[in-house]
Amino acid sequence: MRRRLRGLLGLAIGGLVLAACTDTLPQSSFNSAGDVAQQQKDLLIPIIVIATVIFVLVEGALVWFLYKYRHREGSEPLQVHGNSRLEIAWTIAPALILAIITVPTVSMIYALAKAPAGKSMTVYAVGHQWWWEFDYPDLNITTANELYIPDDTQVYVKLCAAGTTNSGTPVGAPCTVPAPAVGEAVVHSFWVPRLAGKQDVVPGRTNTMTIEANEPGVYPGQCAEFCGLSHAFMRFKVIAQTPTDFQAWVTNQQAEAPTPVAGSAADGGLQVFNTAGCIGCHTIGGVSEGIGGPNLTHFGARDCFAGCMLSVTEENLSKWLHDPASVKPGSFMPNLNLTDDQVTSLVAYLESLK
Ligand code: CUA
Repeated sequence: MRRRLRGLLGLAIGGLVLAACTDTLPQSSFNSAGDVAQQQKDLLIPIIVIATVIFVLVEGALVWFLYKYRHREGSEPLQVHGNSRLEIAWTIAPALILAIITVPTVSMIYALAKAPAGKSMTVYAVGHQWWWEFDYPDLNITTANELYIPDDTQVYVKLCAAGTTNSGTPVGAPCTVPAPAVGEAVVHSFWVPRLAGKQDVVPGRTNTMTIEANEPGVYPGQCAEFCGLSHAFMRFKVIAQTPTDFQAWVTNQQAEAPTPVAGSAADGGLQVFNTAGCIGCHTIGGVSEGIGGPNLTHFGARDCFAGCMLSVTEENLSKWLHDPASVKPGSFMPNLNLTDDQVTSLVAYLESLK
């Protein structure tokens, strides 16, 4: 008994210590890093305070009554059944509290649902099984798993789910040029806790949300709606940059993929890419126009791949190319039975795509 108490006490203290250092948590709504998240947090905190006060009062009264009116020989508590005043009070009080919470909540839902009016940019976030595609319609850029944004700018995110419906119809529009994606069109949820609350990504409709980062930085996000086998590996990063750095990124992304030096390992990789089956699914600017898989034009400039489940290293890439589904359960990238040499040169090629 005493040991269990000590365990509980440890848990409680641990929780308090953790709560005290939210500033270092990369995926905490309490550690807001932009105006949208800040507004939501400013609403969340008073609601938590109200809920906590009510919890303590109600549970405290419950425990007190349990103790006070515990069973004792010959003691029958005063019966108050049918006390109209009490019943009216505890019907009206919760209704009032809910009304107090509803008004600011609903008005904020409407305020945040509007398209941004000031300095803004539109991106499409497309949920695939199980990775994120990011399209910049005005900049003509398509990338995956890493969403680059300028800081101090409202980014209007249009959310679409890509894939095929039960009846075999490909969906994805209007986010993408309707390209038949691999996998099923299912519900995902786009969530970058430090930049905004979560929003569902629903096949056949376009939900929108605004995210904003006040400072340059890397803000991890993840799919927050169960979407199949590798849902837990459907992560992504938002990388906020100064406008100058962002412009440099844009210029580089808009360029076609660099061509490897003839005879180099990367050049051998390009040959494998062209002949082993990769071109069916992957687009590389100036090389191939595949559909279904992530655009790899500047793959070598990314930090992570496979839904940000893995960082871009030779070891991870090699493991992945040998047998994707053994790394990421259910992966729609097939095992192409590549030889060790083919994998080595493909890795060199992918890493050269800066
Ligand atoms: Cu996509 Cu969970």
